[in-house]
Amino acid sequence: LPPEEFSQVNGIILQKKTCDFWNKIWNFQAKPDDLLIASYPKAGTTWTQEIVDLIQNDGDIEKSRRASIQLRHPFLEWIRMTHCGKSSVYKLTVLANAMPSPRTLKTHLPVQLLPPSFWEENCKIIYVARNPKDNLVSYYHFQRMNKALPDPGSWDEYFETFLAGNVVWGSWFDHVKGWWKKKDSHPILYLFYEDMRKDPKREIRKIMEFLGKNLKEEILDKIVYNTSFDVMKRNPMTNYINEIKMNHNLSPFLRKGVVGDWKNQFTEAQNKQFNEYHEKNMADTSLSFYIF
Ligand code: A3P
Repeated sequence: LPPEEFSQVNGIILQKKTCDFWNKIWNFQAKPDDLLIASYPKAGTTWTQEIVDLIQNDGDIEKSRRASIQLRHPFLEWIRMTHCGKSSVYKLTVLANAMPSPRTLKTHLPVQLLPPSFWEENCKIIYVARNPKDNLVSYYHFQRMNKALPDPGSWDEYFETFLAGNVVWGSWFDHVKGWWKKKDSHPILYLFYEDMRKDPKREIRKIMEFLGKNLKEEILDKIVYNTSFDVMKRNPMTNYINEIKMNHNLSPFLRKGVVGDWKNQFTEAQNKQFNEYHEKNMADTSLSFYIF
């Protein structure tokens, strides 16, 4: 990893801009009506964010297009209270502090690094998980195109890096298992990318109920349409078109949006190695993923 841009908090690799201000982030004061959208990177975060935002705005697409998704839902780990310098991070910070309640924030932090005030205030949390093989492939392509993350190297190299958990925000396995366990003692709606692909309306309804909203069928149908892959890909507010660190020519942000793309990327040997690792590392949880 380029040492000047990354560091660690309790063994988890994070961007330096997070580590340097870790004290402030850890002491972030959540409010009881804050909503948090949490996920491992590339699990379907942006999709979930757009669904949540449209539900909160009763399906009004003009309202949801008021700003890019990263400005509507600031990144918790980029929030600093003051003196954070220039650039987009500064804008996010200012916005989070000035944001009217109820606020919606986003995070990729593993559960053990979530600021304690979220638990103390009993905030609602939506977590989205994706099967690890597609998640890995999506993360690989994301690291190729996003200059804010380390160069992934070759596919074969990245495959090993991911399995070892040496990626920004830590191991996929620890992440999904940790949040799954926490759901026993805290209001967490735990969603799966594959369920959202299979029956988006059912999953959107689940989110609506969790948020305590009651929208008409026709509005739900509108939300299903406006959060479909094709519509979100055409929407510059959700496709990170203006994010200067991202090179969409290398790989688009909304890349394929399907289940099972790993089959185009894994070798047979990698698949075998992955399956063995997966079985070993998922033995201590009731959480399961279809990976075949
Ligand atoms: P792929 O790289 O497999 O295409 P995140 O928002 O957590 O970074 O996740 C990005 C992944 O979710 C990408 O996966 C992206 O295409 C997919 N995605 C985003 N919006 C989607 C949608 N409306 N429907 C299906 N997949 C979507």
